Amino acid sequence: MDLPRPELALVPRPRRLSARSGRFRLDRTTRLRVTPGAGPAAVLLRTLLAPATGLPLDSAADGAFVLALDPALTGLGDEGYGLTVSPQGVLLRAARPAGLLRGVQTVRQLLPYEALSGRPVRGVPWELPAVEITDVPRHAWRGSMLDVARHFQPVSYLRRYVDLLALHKLNVFHLHLTDDQGWRMPVAAHPRLTEVGGRRAESMVGPAGSDRFDGVPHGGSYTRAELRALVAYAAERGVSVLPETGVPGHVRAALAAYPELGTDPARRLDVWTHWGVCENVLGTGENVLDFFRTVLDEVMDVFPSPYVHIGGDEVPTTEWELSPSARARAAREGLAGPRALHPWFIARLAEHLVRAGRRPVVWAESGVALPLDCTVMSWRDPAHARAAALRGHQVVHADHRATYFDYPRGAGPGEPPAQPGVVVDLRAVHEVDLAPPTPQAASRVLGAQGQLWTEFVRTPEHIEYLTFPRLCALAERVWDGTSGWRDFTARLAGHRARLDALDVPHAAPPPGPPVSFPHTPHHPSTLPLGRESYRKDPA
Ligand code: ACM
Repeated sequence: MDLPRPELALVPRPRRLSARSGRFRLDRTTRLRVTPGAGPAAVLLRTLLAPATGLPLDSAADGAFVLALDPALTGLGDEGYGLTVSPQGVLLRAARPAGLLRGVQTVRQLLPYEALSGRPVRGVPWELPAVEITDVPRHAWRGSMLDVARHFQPVSYLRRYVDLLALHKLNVFHLHLTDDQGWRMPVAAHPRLTEVGGRRAESMVGPAGSDRFDGVPHGGSYTRAELRALVAYAAERGVSVLPETGVPGHVRAALAAYPELGTDPARRLDVWTHWGVCENVLGTGENVLDFFRTVLDEVMDVFPSPYVHIGGDEVPTTEWELSPSARARAAREGLAGPRALHPWFIARLAEHLVRAGRRPVVWAESGVALPLDCTVMSWRDPAHARAAALRGHQVVHADHRATYFDYPRGAGPGEPPAQPGVVVDLRAVHEVDLAPPTPQAASRVLGAQGQLWTEFVRTPEHIEYLTFPRLCALAERVWDGTSGWRDFTARLAGHRARLDALDVPHAAPPPGPPVSFPHTPHHPSTLPLGRESYRKDPA
């Protein structure tokens, strides 16, 4: 392959990097000196380098490659690290174990790109350029969401996805486990959720509102053992798995499994085969709250993440307005009307999580006042993130115009079918707006994440086509936050050799004149609450 050697073209860019002269060579004689607490980083280094290099990297008290945990290095925070490479040795230091894991990924990127291959590579000298790096992330929340509800992916693929996040120093894998079209989370107390809710008869072809279906059943769900193993695998890479089981909308699969959860318990619904915003929502009885408290108990049992996502987006309130029992519930709770059942419902489950010592995460819908202990994930408009931060919420930016990877990467006619609406090109991602509303609120802006909704995305190849290289730009923004466009794209040009070595597709989108998409987006913030979103079901 005739590609430029990326070497110092690191993505994301380290906070401080100085090139030194000389190189350090890793070979079969290289030993690791591992100080107490640095063991997991040594294991990760060996695991990541073994397939291509075959190097044993055994431990020895006088090893030239030192992995050191030193809690006195307080300036590095939870995830920062220092890395010194000289011709004599390597010193990777951090105050906390996660910092060492980030540093391992930097070592991996400094090696020849062939080191990232999953196959044995011969004839490449495994050399690191001499360098001095001090690196600390700007944002604590650096995430990526994958929707496995619309199209299921096996856990073997989720492990690869975690590896790709970790390579880019992302630390949150948001797993969107339930939606109208499928329920993938095993719940022992309510097995029909996956038995019935995990399968749909067919899928809509084309965007929401289309009248064509593919006639092909789709299904899948995880076991607890698979998810626990995924959590452990991610933790070894410094990635936390954020589970999302959404309420009180996007629940059609749950309603198909347990009709008594709905506003009309006598009604029988199928797992939804359409795309768009489904009007069916949960009922507001105590039985429904108890059911979902149990679901969350099982979610918390499998996922140790401090944060637990409970959805909260796109909740049409028509069914509540028509339901005598929902109207009675609203009156009993002293609410202004059935619409207020939306934040009320979320608050009931949020308090359940808080009592269990977890932090609820909720998608921001304009106009919905959430309890302050909810972390707000803002997707419609960055103004919602700023308003929430001012109110005192922790916020995560997920602006659809900059972080939704289901939108096309470019406007050319050669792009595969994607979510209609806007184009999210690489530059839009690189420029995602994370500015806090005031300096005082800065600490409440946790960071940002990419989202891949999968209505149109069935295969790992398609997932990666849409995700890369946009995820690289997101990682750059949340880790470093200061690089200019030209600096980033110059480094990305080198980084592409690494993506190639990993068989990740990353080509530029096909050129061509802009096409007009068949649907014109509304401005999301002007939509009345509970109406169908511009995004899922453009008028
Ligand atoms: C969303 O896109 N409904 C969060």
